[in-house]
Formats: sequence, structure tokens, C-alpha cells
Amino acid sequence: MFNADELKKLFLDDIEVVKNDLQLSEFWKKYLGKTGKVQGLMNGIKDVAKEEKKAYGQFVNEVKVWAQNLYDEKKAGIEKAMLEARYEKETVDVTVPVKSRPVGNLHPLTSVKYEMMNVFSGMGFEVFEGPEIEDDDHNFTRLNVLKDHPSRDMQDTFWLTDDLLLRTHTSPGQIRVMDAKKPPIKVLVPGKVFRSDSDATHSPMFSQMEGLVVDKHITLCDLQGMLDEFVKNMFSDAAKTRLRPSYFPFTEPSVEVDVSCFKCGGCGCSLCKGTGWIEVLGGGVVNKKVLENCGIDSNEYSGLAFGIGIERIAMLKYGINHMGKLFENDVEFLKQFKA
Ligand code: PHE
Repeated sequence: MFNADELKKLFLDDIEVVKNDLQLSEFWKKYLGKTGKVQGLMNGIKDVAKEEKKAYGQFVNEVKVWAQNLYDEKKAGIEKAMLEARYEKETVDVTVPVKSRPVGNLHPLTSVKYEMMNVFSGMGFEVFEGPEIEDDDHNFTRLNVLKDHPSRDMQDTFWLTDDLLLRTHTSPGQIRVMDAKKPPIKVLVPGKVFRSDSDATHSPMFSQMEGLVVDKHITLCDLQGMLDEFVKNMFSDAAKTRLRPSYFPFTEPSVEVDVSCFKCGGCGCSLCKGTGWIEVLGGGVVNKKVLENCGIDSNEYSGLAFGIGIERIAMLKYGINHMGKLFENDVEFLKQFKA
């Protein structure tokens, strides 16, 4: 009665050549869309004799389901092929050598500072930072460096006003910590300090690491114990310290601390100038007057303090003979410290 074969053949021929999604959507329009051939067949129902309408309807429906199935199959096939093509295109060849990007490295002063902080934080120290512009009170007076005291001349100060100055050491950090915190105290104060001084081993700006411990029964032995641990970690397991009497107004007794020469092991060489020892820092037992200046009862508490020159440690560790090298920012020089 109705011959679908012709239409099906046309349909099959057309779908055969569909290769991509654009052609697929054109195909949809032509056969299955609102104005497509299947809809055309549907519309034809009005010209069909009444008694044949039912059979005609069934026939058109069959054609429609058949066509839709074929279309769906084709669509799935094309989508799969497109996905595969995409995977193929996006395949990464993990054996292709990477383009390396030049990366920088930490400045030796920064890495030495971090290393020092790391060693001391292993002993329970916290880190505190104070201002670079200080007043006379914190930098000198409350540290027991009294006005007109000759020890003020030990440090050539850059004065900004009658009262303000660039801090000459990190020791004012001790005062700031003791003002802010009651014992037990165990802090490090790293930072830049300034003195009017310049030669191969001095620079007008350099860095120090202050250490302060205040608690009950703190003695000079604790200082030596901590510093022994510090030099072992920084230089070598065999490194030892030696304390020599010295003078600082804010510590009593005061010591100069030497480390056994890690180059010659103590026999004497050019680094230690034949003595077997290298001076690395100053320290001592916190002067009772300094504790009292910060409202800490010196009968109950005692403290130790030390100040380490970070450049000095870096120069010793890396065999740098001129301090200026650490401030010139010569990239070729700095590249040597790449880990
Ligand atoms: N502030 C001293 C200096 O700069 C070092 C020091 C710190 C000494 C702490 C004793 C205690 O020379």
C-alpha cells in the first residue's frame, strides 16, 4: 500500500556520507526536523482515505522510529570518533625534554639567617622583630649604657635626631621583648643594624641575631650549652666553643665566644690566624640592672643574652673574604649559593 523502501533507501544513502556533527544536524533537519521528510509523511495523512488513516499512521510511526534509531546510532558513532580524535590530539609525550626556566636562589645571608633560626627554634626559641629606627632609651639607656658613658663610643652611631637613631645592635629588642612579655622568655631577634664603620670586615649596615633567655636559674653554663649546640649545627659536629671574658654594659659577666677553627680543627691555619679559634659572637648573663629596667625581679629571675653577626657566620661558613660581596648583589657571585 505505502512503499517505505524508497524513502529508507534515500535515508540510508544520505546517512552513509554523514561524517561530522555539522552534516549530522543537516541530516536531522532533512529527515527528522519540523519540515523534514518524516513530518512530510505525517502531514500526508490528510490526503489519505478515512479507512486507511489508521494503517497509514502506523506506517509513518514505524518509519519515524526506524529513522530515529539510525540517527541515534550515527550520532553516538560520531561523538565517539570526535572524542577519540581529541584524545589523540591531546596526548602528552612525557618523554619530551622540559624547557627549564631559570629560577633564583636565596641570598646567602638569608639562608644563613634561616639556618640559624632553625637551629635555635629547635631549642625552643621564638622570633621577634623590633624597629630599625630606635630611641636612645631602648638602644642605650635601658640597656645600662648610660649617657656620657664611654661605652657609647664603642658603637659609632648614626643619629637621626637628638633622641632617634638607627639601631646600632639588636639588643634593644631585648628591652622590647621584656616590656611585652613576662618570663619565661626565650626569643631571637634577627635584624639589620647600622654603624658608621666600613672596611673588609665591616659595613655600615649589617645584620645581627640577638638571643635572650630569661627564667629561673639561668646561668652562663646555659649560654655555653646553647652555643655549643649552635656551632655544632652550623659548622661541624666537632666544633667547640670557648668563652673569654669581655665587657658589655648590659651583661655581667660578659663573654666573647670563640668557635674552634673548623678549617684546621684547631691546629692553626690562615682562617684562624694560627690561633685555632675564631671569634663569633658576644654574650653574657643579663645585667640585673637591665632586668630591673624592664620590671623583672632580678632576685627571682636571671637571663642570658647573645648577639651574633650574621655576615660573620656567612663569611666563615662560605669562605667569603670581603663583606662587601654580601651587599654588591653581583648575580654571578650569588648564583654560587644555589642549593
Ligand atoms: N649587642 C652586642 C654588640 O652588638 C652584642 C651582645 C648582645 C653582647 C647580647 C652581649 C649580649 O656588640
